[in-house]
Amino acid sequence: MDLNTLAAKGHLARGFDPSRPVADQTVDQILEFLRSTPSSVSVQPWRALVLRTPESRQRLADHLGIDFEGNIRKIRTASHVLIISTLTDLSDETLNLRFAREEADGRFPDAGVNAAWQAMVREFVQERRYDHKDLPHWMEKQTYLAVGMTMMAAAAVGVDAAPLEGFNARTVDTEFGIRGTGYTTTLILALGYRDTSLTVAGAKSRLRRDELFAFVD
Ligand SMILES: Cc1cc2nc3c(=O)[nH]c(=O)nc-3n(C[C@H](O)[C@H](O)[C@H](O)COP(=O)(O)O)c2cc1C
Repeated sequence: MDLNTLAAKGHLARGFDPSRPVADQTVDQILEFLRSTPSSVSVQPWRALVLRTPESRQRLADHLGIDFEGNIRKIRTASHVLIISTLTDLSDETLNLRFAREEADGRFPDAGVNAAWQAMVREFVQERRYDHKDLPHWMEKQTYLAVGMTMMAAAAVGVDAAPLEGFNARTVDTEFGIRGTGYTTTLILALGYRDTSLTVAGAKSRLRRDELFAFVD
């Protein structure tokens, strides 16, 4: 992937060309990349609902909530939309499922190393819960990192990805039965090929390099 081309790409997509669906195989590549993203202590706190029909995307568009109408077109014109949700709590049961998966995958062949890892993870999670008191927030940070990486992955295969925070989590969660599973919606990621007629009039604007970077020698 050419980083200069990527950085010069300009504005995020503001809408998609509905006549250009993304091939299932390409979507699958993107999903597989999302699955491969790392998270702190490998907590993997997120899940994604993949909306792949106009009907399911319309359901989401209808339940974005008041004040988020501006995102309706992006969702309706997208080829695929991911509703990405994050765990609201991290129970022992969930942690044990993570450990069972690691054991099945053979992550730590040495039993002693495996036991030490699990003890460290449990301690780390307790620190987030009781000392930092930011367990749900910390898990959502992992989700954002995964989604950010996945936006790059989509760009690498020529797909435009629009992250959307403009929605009412309560109405989206309720419509798709998300809260009942212990998760809540963090972010929506719309995928497709941008509608080039929807160009943003102004230039791309970012803070200057000297405002962002300081070099320590
Ligand atoms: C996490 C995240 C959430 C965003 N949510 C929305 C959104 O709900 N609706 C929208 O139109 N744009 C959304 N954006 C787009 C940003 O507003 C946009 O990228 C930013 O203003 C810079 O504009 P540019 O990409 O055209 O340079 C989101 C961007 C990010 C990174």
